[in-house]
Amino acid sequence: MTDSQREFDVVVWGASGFTGRLVAEYLLERHGASGTVQWALGGRNREKLEAIRAGLGAAAADLPIVLGDGDDEASLASLAERTRVVCTTVGPYALYGSKLVAACVAHGTDYCDLTGEVHWMRRMIDTHQKEAEATGARIVHTCGFDSIPSDLGVHFVQSEMRRRHGVASPFVKARATDFSGGFSGGTIASMLNMLEESGRDPDVRRVMADPYGLNPEGDRSGPDERDRLAPAWDDDFAGWTAPFVMAGINTRVVRRSQALLGHPAGRDFRYDEAMLTGPPPMGFLTAAAITAGMAAFAGAGSIAPLRRAAERFLPDPGEGPSREQRERGYWEMRFHAAHPEDGEKGLFARLRGDRDPGYGSTAKMLAEAALCLAQDDLEARGGFETPASSMGEALATRLIEHAGVTFSIDDTAEPVG
Ligand SMILES: NC(=O)c1ccc[n+]([C@@H]2O[C@H](COP(=O)([O-])OP(=O)(O)OC[C@H]3O[C@@H](n4cnc5c(N)ncnc54)[C@H](OP(=O)(O)O)[C@@H]3O)[C@@H](O)[C@H]2O)c1
Repeated sequence: MTDSQREFDVVVWGASGFTGRLVAEYLLERHGASGTVQWALGGRNREKLEAIRAGLGAAAADLPIVLGDGDDEASLASLAERTRVVCTTVGPYALYGSKLVAACVAHGTDYCDLTGEVHWMRRMIDTHQKEAEATGARIVHTCGFDSIPSDLGVHFVQSEMRRRHGVASPFVKARATDFSGGFSGGTIASMLNMLEESGRDPDVRRVMADPYGLNPEGDRSGPDERDRLAPAWDDDFAGWTAPFVMAGINTRVVRRSQALLGHPAGRDFRYDEAMLTGPPPMGFLTAAAITAGMAAFAGAGSIAPLRRAAERFLPDPGEGPSREQRERGYWEMRFHAAHPEDGEKGLFARLRGDRDPGYGSTAKMLAEAALCLAQDDLEARGGFETPASSMGEALATRLIEHAGVTFSIDDTAEPVG
């Protein structure tokens, strides 16, 4: 089926969930129910979807509803045939997402999601890459806070390095510096499922530990080492750093982007991501506390009885931060790109988002990624892409113009803490 014969540009799959509803709210505000973008609410439960539509107000009354189930291949085939892009928030993806990816690949349908499940992405790439290249389906995982800021941040700071100095940086660092927000039940469920799978399956552990775990076959080595698990001092930012909870996902995505883009900074390019906690003594103490907290969460999450006990105190699927928390929220990531020869010519960059990272800002980023795949003239032709390799500049422009994300260059590393 050609793109012009498809009924919809975008279907928001999982619109009855916490994040899916936010994506729908954003699309409605941006394009109305029947403007230049034809879009629909999708999911498995008509009553819930009708309630979501009613909750969106009178402007949403004409929004179509597409029904299906993540387990029912016939309904997924019909969904994939009817739309140019499936924008899915149905997770944990490793549990509910594989058949949808297969359907999109088979029907040449573009796809974007919010997964951070590295082992599942690896499985999808290994299973479907060749067919996606043949059908032209562009499958883009990690279109939320993980990993758009990291992936586009590297793209931005490298473009600026080339523009100013005519060279690419051989080493980019990203530092999460400041954010405010909360977790939803769906995200907690995805994190716990990942810990559960890695606890019982050594192959999953191997993929998650491999710094090049998402790179294409034959291109899975380089100078970057395993993720750091301890506090470390950072000279460039003059502060202490702690391991960053999203780094295990973002670093893999950035390295896959480099490979898909043909190693624009050379095969020795290095990328490091951490959380900046600031100068001593508080910077060190904070970094030590974060490191211990992450180790405790990972330890407890991989032991079944402790995981079940923790689940009782965490938000249920469908629950998440309040509107007020989302609107008061924000995030900031800073980048340092080293110059290959001259220490004085290193560049500092900063990306900021105007809502909480996990939901308010993520919903806008995911919606813009879906619109970018549906509407923009992109070079990517089919296969498992990353945000930077498939949408790069076009997506950055959309985020700046519509989604409250700013990209800027700093003259120096402003202190944190
Ligand atoms: N990367 C990021 O930055 C980021 C940020 C936010 C969320 N996420 C991820 O996004 C996912 C969703 O999070 P959430 O908080 O929105 O979760 P949620 O509120 O639990 O929503 C899950 C959605 O999936 C639907 N669903 C579940 N099983 C299904 C099936 N078999 N067929 C069709 N639909 C099914 C649910 O439908 P019903 O309503 O009918 O049950 C619901 O619409 C999670 O994996 C989370 O980790 C990532």
